[in-house]
Amino acid sequence: MGLWTWLLFIYLILICFVDDVLSGRTSSFRRSEWPSTDIPLDSEAFVVPGGYNTPQQVHITQGDYDGKAVIISWVTESETGTSEVLYGTEEHKYEHIAQGTTTNYTFYNYKSGFIHHCLVDGLKYNTKYHYKIGTGASAREFWFQTPPEIDPDVPYVFGVIGDLGQTFNSLSTLEHYMETGGQTVLFVGDLSYADRYEYNDGVRWDSWGRLVEKSAAYQPWIWTAGNHEIEYRPDLGEISTFKPYLHRYVTPYVSSKSSSPLWYAVRRASAHIIVLSSYSPFVKYTPQWFWLREELKRVNREKTPWLIVLMHVPLYNSNEAHYMEGEAMRDVFESWFVHYKVDIVFAGHVHAYERSYRVSNMNYNITSGSRHPVPDKSAPVYIIVGDGGNQEGLAVRFSDLQPDYSAFREASYGHSTLELKNRTHAFYHWNRNNDGKHVLTDHIVFRNQYWASNTRRRRLKKHRKFPN
Ligand SMILES: [Fe+2]
Repeated sequence: MGLWTWLLFIYLILICFVDDVLSGRTSSFRRSEWPSTDIPLDSEAFVVPGGYNTPQQVHITQGDYDGKAVIISWVTESETGTSEVLYGTEEHKYEHIAQGTTTNYTFYNYKSGFIHHCLVDGLKYNTKYHYKIGTGASAREFWFQTPPEIDPDVPYVFGVIGDLGQTFNSLSTLEHYMETGGQTVLFVGDLSYADRYEYNDGVRWDSWGRLVEKSAAYQPWIWTAGNHEIEYRPDLGEISTFKPYLHRYVTPYVSSKSSSPLWYAVRRASAHIIVLSSYSPFVKYTPQWFWLREELKRVNREKTPWLIVLMHVPLYNSNEAHYMEGEAMRDVFESWFVHYKVDIVFAGHVHAYERSYRVSNMNYNITSGSRHPVPDKSAPVYIIVGDGGNQEGLAVRFSDLQPDYSAFREASYGHSTLELKNRTHAFYHWNRNNDGKHVLTDHIVFRNQYWASNTRRRRLKKHRKFPN
């Protein structure tokens, strides 16, 4: 092997394990972007399916703790219609039927359609199911694949999308994600940005539901609430928070013993996924605090080695946008994340991409003035994927000096994929939206925070349960 080949080899190794190298990179790349304006309502991207009262805005999410159920949701505009789901393992043959429920809401002068939610449970793992909603000529058919049984070594691919909105950049992110082979979306908050319209026009919730249907009807999206879901408008007489979001996007919170759909957990394949609410009380003794304390005790890394946390507001962020907004939650939860060796914390909110090294700042002390993040092998990697492409545009102003904790940052649109390979390794890639150029984006190999320690690896080798 020649000298140049060796140098290239060493360079590639360094790139792959960049999380262990303490020198951050700020990418100067700026993706050519479409204007940050929403797609017109009469666009093909929002097309209303033909026929009378035809189901639209179809989306599914996990329906239980372990992935043997889905919740199927959709909207009918003209009348209630049926909330039944016909389903089975063969196309056009539906052996089973599940009965759902219907709800609707008003928001100032907007009146929603009839919103249906139907729990389909008792499913087999690793099985393709076909389902049918609506009746007669207006019926529509879709399918989804259930995850493999919970197993520490089963491979699985998650996509991570945040702050999506409904611009042409949003559409590009969505279509690019659909090309990357993700099996489930981890969505880190800020969905439709309907609240940017006069009177928080719910018509833009409907168009967003139609925009994402091409993915969300076929694979679960795991929902996290962001600030654009709060919709607190006392000036319009709308004082209940998260009203449209909670009516439209349900979560399986009861199965993780949560008291609110805004924070909950699911287990899927080899991952334990915890969803937190940045905009609900979380300080000591609040319901979310009590719930998270108990949920972290329920995590079993022998079954689900990958511990992933989703939230909207990032705890580490070196962009001027939303700078330090996550400090309060960091103060409350960071020590738990380190204690339980969380692998990755995904957040959105900042409309850019940033990945941290493994750092913690638990010695912060308001009395002594100690306040420095330090490298910490037990700490999670914090990743901001608020770059879905909404109408507010990119957050292009990073702090001039890249802080030591920041590994990579770039103000472009995109999404991430997390490929869990087995209990010890995962491939992670940030995918900048396709712009026809071959450009290096961010990728690392994650070593599992629980299983990658030497003692456990040696034990595995000794018992020959797992190669290498
Ligand atoms: Fe946000």
